[in-house]
Amino acid sequence: KNWTDALRYQPYDQWDKNYQQLLTETVNHSRWRQHYHIQPESGLLNDPNGFSYFNGQWHLFYQAYPMGPVHGVKSWYHVTSNNLVDWQSKGLALLPDMAYDSHGVYSGSGIVVDDELILTYTGNVRDQNWQRKSYQMLAAMNTQGEIIKAEEPLIPAPPKGYTHEFRDPQVFKYQDQYWLLIGAQTDELEGKVLAYSGDSLESLEFRGELRFADHSMGFMVECPNLVFIEETPVFLFCPQGLDKEITDYQNIYPNTYIVAENFDTDKLTLTQPTALKNLDEGFDVYATQAFNAPDGRALSVSWIGVPEIAYPSDHEGWAHCLSIVKELKLKNEKLYQTPVKEQAELRQEHTLLTGDLTSQPTTLMEETNNCYEMILEFPADSQGKLHVFADQKLTHSLVIDFDTKNGMIKMDRTNAGSPFAQEYGTTRSVSIEKNQPLTLQLFVDQSVCELFINEGQQVVTARLFPDEGADRLLIEGTGSYAGDFWRLRKMK
Ligand code: FRU
Repeated sequence: KNWTDALRYQPYDQWDKNYQQLLTETVNHSRWRQHYHIQPESGLLNDPNGFSYFNGQWHLFYQAYPMGPVHGVKSWYHVTSNNLVDWQSKGLALLPDMAYDSHGVYSGSGIVVDDELILTYTGNVRDQNWQRKSYQMLAAMNTQGEIIKAEEPLIPAPPKGYTHEFRDPQVFKYQDQYWLLIGAQTDELEGKVLAYSGDSLESLEFRGELRFADHSMGFMVECPNLVFIEETPVFLFCPQGLDKEITDYQNIYPNTYIVAENFDTDKLTLTQPTALKNLDEGFDVYATQAFNAPDGRALSVSWIGVPEIAYPSDHEGWAHCLSIVKELKLKNEKLYQTPVKEQAELRQEHTLLTGDLTSQPTTLMEETNNCYEMILEFPADSQGKLHVFADQKLTHSLVIDFDTKNGMIKMDRTNAGSPFAQEYGTTRSVSIEKNQPLTLQLFVDQSVCELFINEGQQVVTARLFPDEGADRLLIEGTGSYAGDFWRLRKMK
């Protein structure tokens, strides 16, 4: 397909009636389809949206373009869950069907107000000259699951001095006030986050720029999210064009965070912020959405994919997935990300793993079916390599290099299957504490690998597109290992 702008923005109902069904059939033949990750039925998935708990269920939406693996005119697709691991499809929920969102129902968030789930999103519009207009919009879902969009924008235009690169409202309540944080760009093309607040969502007022660092954020900030972990503010966001001197990153755009001491609402400041850090040390995490759940947890979910990059599954009619749901925690003022405890509900047949590492790669597991969780512990002086998604001759695998002596983990997808995004590097390295025992927790699902290091001190996420049958697991090195392997069941 030649994805011209005209085609990408063609309304869904102008496509041939059978088109999407045929596309879905192609997609269903893809061997990279996953078993327990949220993935698009056809076409492209990007940011998670509206992550919330409402009416006795978890709700999650995502940016969807169902007609192909490209960024076309976006809708919100809706999934619900009782346990954060089994997600039921509810179909497209917010469609680009009005003048304020004709070119895309862009990202946003959700909040429960009385007996409704209020969704805030950005209406993306292109005028005759293809100039962008952005409107911050609202929709309300009732307990029957019916969604009604407000006819008029919540915020009809960016404030004076800012461009229409103005999107991704995060709505939350803090000290009895409703807040909206929105990704923005100044007329001088600097990335900012703008804050609005009010007694109700109807009476929001522009407050100014949120202060959370004293350096430039690049040309645009997308997907701001402020959550509180026992009062402590943790701020997640995606600065585009961030200077690599500030935070080193290899992906086209990073997904970063800071931890602050306090949210000073008078001064609109996150006080005493830490330096910006990468939320994920891997290749593919972006647009993470987090919210404070009613049970007190701060939960997050990410888009596993990055903007402007082609992926091998594009050829099979689909692109990207969401991460497993993680809980955000703070220990000694450091952010930890762990799989939610519910993730264990997927565990099936268990195998104990233990042994000494040898200089030749030895098999940990044959025929993993690339659908498993594994936890491995290494004593403080271990060095070695784990081969994931390995083929028979070990010519292809995802290599996880670990060196506890020198405090280093490296993920290498150079030879892990169909190559892509090579211009952004095919390895990612992470520093860990030297001469300390190491725990690796790995979630593997067909074409994605999520690695949690030392109880989630760091996370390394990678998409990869292995050859047929490349599902062995091998290990080599010096030292020893002990741990668990579980086959995981499919999402129900
Ligand atoms: C981030 C993003 C958002 C926007 C959405 C459009 O990936 O560019 O800023 O709302 O995707 O799909």
